[in-house]
Amino acid sequence: MLHLLEAGDLFQVVGVVGSLRQASYNKALLRAVQQLAPVALQIRIHDLSVIPLFSEDVERTGIPAAVATLRKAVAETDGFLVATPEYNHGVPGVLKNAFDWLSRPPGKSVLTGKPSAILGASPGITGTARAQSQLRQAFVFTNTPVLPQPEVLVGRAHEKFDSEGRLTDERTRQFLGLFLESFATWIGRFAERHQTAGVS
Ligand code: FNR
Repeated sequence: MLHLLEAGDLFQVVGVVGSLRQASYNKALLRAVQQLAPVALQIRIHDLSVIPLFSEDVERTGIPAAVATLRKAVAETDGFLVATPEYNHGVPGVLKNAFDWLSRPPGKSVLTGKPSAILGASPGITGTARAQSQLRQAFVFTNTPVLPQPEVLVGRAHEKFDSEGRLTDERTRQFLGLFLESFATWIGRFAERHQTAGVS
């Protein structure tokens, strides 16, 4: 497991959820991933409810404190993890708004080169596939390397979490373990490239 990581590696990850709902399945999914993560991968969940609506006018007059805090958190960590619901076949406004803030300034975004991954859960059978596809397109603009596989598409979420938001589905739990292994390896691969670039 984690064969590309070196002994003693410790990677910090910022996780965000595109739902402000108290009983959000996506929040529950991110929490499950956080709990299942190996010691080498520490995931901290950042609250998006405090992020104001993006406006270039606001941007010109000064970056809001909540946005600056989010940007700093992403800049200082080794990886970025997004749990997205699907609204009307796309990315929910809460998440897209945060993404738009994070994408600025163009060419100097904290997302540029940041190893990232996407998760999603919905009661429907497609498990946010369309929203995740949209998000991947947005990550092209920010030049963000997003883990290609495995895709985490948790369909029929209402059958996989209990009323307290605990993941009860054993197959999903095992799959998340596989995902975490791939994500940690993905982050390690970029950390390794960085070191190699410094040597030559
Ligand atoms: C939805 N939902 C939904 N589900 C889906 O699979 N595809 C979709 O396009 C939509 N569209 C949609 C639009 C709007 C406005 C709402 C409020 C909901 C259902 C959605 O998957 C469900 O409410 C999830 O529980 C939302 O995620 P959280 O809040 O549980 O993380």
